[in-house]
Amino acid sequence: MKIMIVNGPNINMTGIREKGVYGKRTYDEIKEMIKEEACKRNVEVEVLQSNHEGEIIDFIQRAYFEQFDGIIINPGAYTHTSYAIHDAIKSVECIPTIEVHLSNVHAREEFRRISKTAPACVAQMCGLGEFGYVLAMDALIQMKK
Ligand code: DQA
Repeated sequence: MKIMIVNGPNINMTGIREKGVYGKRTYDEIKEMIKEEACKRNVEVEVLQSNHEGEIIDFIQRAYFEQFDGIIINPGAYTHTSYAIHDAIKSVECIPTIEVHLSNVHAREEFRRISKTAPACVAQMCGLGEFGYVLAMDALIQMKK
């Protein structure tokens, strides 16, 4: 099983930015943890990050052409604005996509409660820190069975 993890703008600043909100673990540490958990589950994982909307769309399209079995996406602030990422996820509807947020977006500013991208996904998970990625991975494994 092959899962693509797509992180959007500023997710690479985890461990530096707003530690009280996003945690102390650096992006590299989170990536390592995800890879270890994927390995334990016999899952092939590619963890990507971009600060650019178009590049995120390119990743999603590549997931289709390279026949990934699932996508986990944290679109960062594009969550709240991007119809283009919504449409990209919809374009590859045959690949189940789960939206993950490190923080509980519903307990923060009003603008974070709106997700333009979640309606294109099979589920949204938030507030569980980096473990959200692992839980989303388990959900995708269950869905493939
Ligand atoms: C985030 C939540 C977004 O509102 C924010 O813009 C981010 C991170 C999260 O993981 O909690 O950059 O996606």
